[in-house]
Amino acid sequence: MNPTLLFIRPLLALIAFTALAASAHASKDHPLIGLSLDTLKEERWQHDRDDFVAKAESLGAKVITQSANSDDTRQTTDINALINRGADVIVIVAHNGEALTRAVKAAKQAGIPVIAYDRLILNCDIDLYLTFDNVKVGELQARYVADRLPKDRVGKIVRIYGAPTDNNARLFKQGQDNVLNPLIKSGKIQVVFEDWALDWKPENAKKITNAAITKNGHDIDAMVVSADGIAGGAIQALIEEGLAGKVIVTGQDAELAACRRIIRGTQAMTIYKPLKNLATYAAVAAVDIVRGKKIETTQTLDNGFKKVPSVFQDVLIVDKDNMQATVVADGFQKAEDLK
Ligand code: GAL
Repeated sequence: MNPTLLFIRPLLALIAFTALAASAHASKDHPLIGLSLDTLKEERWQHDRDDFVAKAESLGAKVITQSANSDDTRQTTDINALINRGADVIVIVAHNGEALTRAVKAAKQAGIPVIAYDRLILNCDIDLYLTFDNVKVGELQARYVADRLPKDRVGKIVRIYGAPTDNNARLFKQGQDNVLNPLIKSGKIQVVFEDWALDWKPENAKKITNAAITKNGHDIDAMVVSADGIAGGAIQALIEEGLAGKVIVTGQDAELAACRRIIRGTQAMTIYKPLKNLATYAAVAAVDIVRGKKIETTQTLDNGFKKVPSVFQDVLIVDKDNMQATVVADGFQKAEDLK
């Protein structure tokens, strides 16, 4: 036999086997869902994963979860692995909205639909984007602070944005700007320090807060902080300076640690995003897409490549006064854990 054929035959057999293995899961009754997460370090993403997997499994699907530990290269590898394992649909929480274009392209070339979960993925062909009203999150945080600043003098604030690689962080800032910019312009509020907390890491927020205190001393009325994880880092720095409870601090996600800080008075508020609704919606949508059902959405959002069919769920302010009636009543946090 021709030696080239001798070499090629097993290779062809291998390719055929791989193709078979890849399509082995492509059953409409039991879809294989790939879930690629940026991180599981923050409590919120553990809620998302648990609710998503529970709902998907109740619908007959199997979920393979990957977490990229805030690393773009790793998330690309994770998505490629999900493609190779024969995922029928891939749901992605992007670490970096601009870094996954090629990975999504590879999925689409393999005929796999892609859903962007909570964070938008830019400049590529995603099928669906499911999130919360992120601009409103920022508006509620800033309004909460603006309403509570001293009225007889200029209110001095520090602003800590999230990860610059996360499109949501920009939307939170945009919402905060909508409320704060007119007040800054009219001289009612002064921003004494501001910075982005890389990768949403609490230690980066702590460093920013330390730098703000080094520059301004204790003359700070409030900190508009975009999420609970980084609020925790900022409050740690405030505790060390004897300022905790004296400075109004915002957050987002209604994480257990943040809810406890709110009850103790070191954090003023958080934003509750009913994650179960989003995760459930995403699981149903993922299964429906595989089963060939059309996902109806009333809105779209331009991601630079196309107008992506999108869903924006509503959010709620939580502080000491309504914690029981919101996160506890909803079963998101348990009353006994908040003591
Ligand atoms: C954002 C998300 C927030 C928060 C933050 C840090 O993308 O919308 O809820 O969790 O990431 O993980």
